[in-house]
Amino acid sequence: MLYHIVTYGCQMNVHESEKIAGILKKEGGELCPDIEKADLVVFNTCCIRDTAEKRALGNIGALKKRKRENKDFMIAVLGCMTQQEGFAEMMREKFPFVDIILGTNNLHLLPYYIKLKDKKNSVDIDRANGGTYDVNLTSDTFRTSFPNAWVNIMYGCDNFCSYCIVPYVRGREVSRPPKDVLNEIKFLLDEGYKEITLLGQNVNSYRYEDYDFKRLLAEAGNSGKKFRLRFMTSNPKDFDKDVIDVIKSSDNICKHIHLPAQSGSDGILRLMNRKYTAARYLDLVLAVRENIEDALISSDIMVGFPTETEEDFSQTLDLVKKSRFSQAFTFVYSPRSGTVSAKMEDVGAEVKKRRITELIRVQNKITKEISEGFKGLTREVLIESAEGDNFFGRTDNGRVVTFEKSNGFKIGDFVNVKITASKSSSLTGTPL
Ligand code: SAH
Ligand code: SF4
Ligand code: F3S
Repeated sequence: MLYHIVTYGCQMNVHESEKIAGILKKEGGELCPDIEKADLVVFNTCCIRDTAEKRALGNIGALKKRKRENKDFMIAVLGCMTQQEGFAEMMREKFPFVDIILGTNNLHLLPYYIKLKDKKNSVDIDRANGGTYDVNLTSDTFRTSFPNAWVNIMYGCDNFCSYCIVPYVRGREVSRPPKDVLNEIKFLLDEGYKEITLLGQNVNSYRYEDYDFKRLLAEAGNSGKKFRLRFMTSNPKDFDKDVIDVIKSSDNICKHIHLPAQSGSDGILRLMNRKYTAARYLDLVLAVRENIEDALISSDIMVGFPTETEEDFSQTLDLVKKSRFSQAFTFVYSPRSGTVSAKMEDVGAEVKKRRITELIRVQNKITKEISEGFKGLTREVLIESAEGDNFFGRTDNGRVVTFEKSNGFKIGDFVNVKITASKSSSLTGTPL
């Protein structure tokens, strides 16, 4: 059986697709890069914004004809969208040709449903068990991101930011036992992985009995060999000075912190239920800058939250200018049914469009300036991919570097590169 997986959403979903691929591979399936040739197409969906949902539904709809022509062809819909209230009913009505719909806690049932004879629109969603699914498929996961390997340290989220659907679809926060996480890291380093990225919606609130994130980060960073340890995402309400000290204390822990600010207005942050102020956020930025040499901070910023005024928006621009993010993922607020802010009045498409354009303009200028600051410097780069005549890698603090293939280097090698030119968010260099 040839299978193809289409993944939407965050890194956690990317990693979950690796687990799905592992489950299918164990059953004798073979990954097929060409969707047209696959016997089974799995959609691993995301519902964080309306655009993500529309894209998935559009792509599922596009397979209707093929399903009609070939009864043996299978379509499975998995991921966060399936966990939404009313999703299965909607699918039955609008996409009855879909064979299998599985919730995020039921991935392991995929082989059962594939073999089921009369599977027409089989639905298996376990909403009560939110967040606890853990295959612990350390060796079964079919990883495709070498030299990086993703490692979940927790599932779900307890924060209920007023705009966000994640706590509803992924359930309550559950931390994996530290022993499991550290064993998985050890296994991956022994396998030759050079970068480990710890995953959680709010990694700083990781806690297993009295074992917290600082301890996990310190022990993981201390795994003996030279490798890169990254983590995401940090919520500013829980990120603190102690974590900064741990980052500073280990050469293996990358000097890059992804710290989503969302907004620079205290009023909006309050309505978002983010539990920090712009001043606290800027204090953290300052603490990182003062304590960790060469550190870069990236962020997520949202515009057009309900009631956001011009003044609120200008405070966001102000925070962006003061923080000088190396990179910012910018989003237009999208109301999600069932969340608290969905009941609040929208600011309208036109205002959102104007604000996102202005935000991107301001951030692009900063991104470009930070890149220019790299010119003439020599930085260690981990080669992550290759295309044509070029290698692509990143610096410890997360900047993408491109250089010509040469000297027998390969993906997974650490190379010192002298930066010779910069282009918006990426750098070009010469290996030494
Ligand atoms: N747990 C992470 C975020 C995960 S979602 C954190 O708290 O930082 C990734 C990003 O999507 C969020 O940071 C936010 O900027 C954006 N996002 C979440 N819900 C959204 C919505 N309803 N509309 C627009 N953007 C949203
Ligand atoms: Fe969503 Fe907030 Fe949880 Fe992040 S911390 S996943 S934005 S509820
Ligand atoms: Fe991630 Fe989207 Fe789910 S951002 S956790 S895949 S809703």
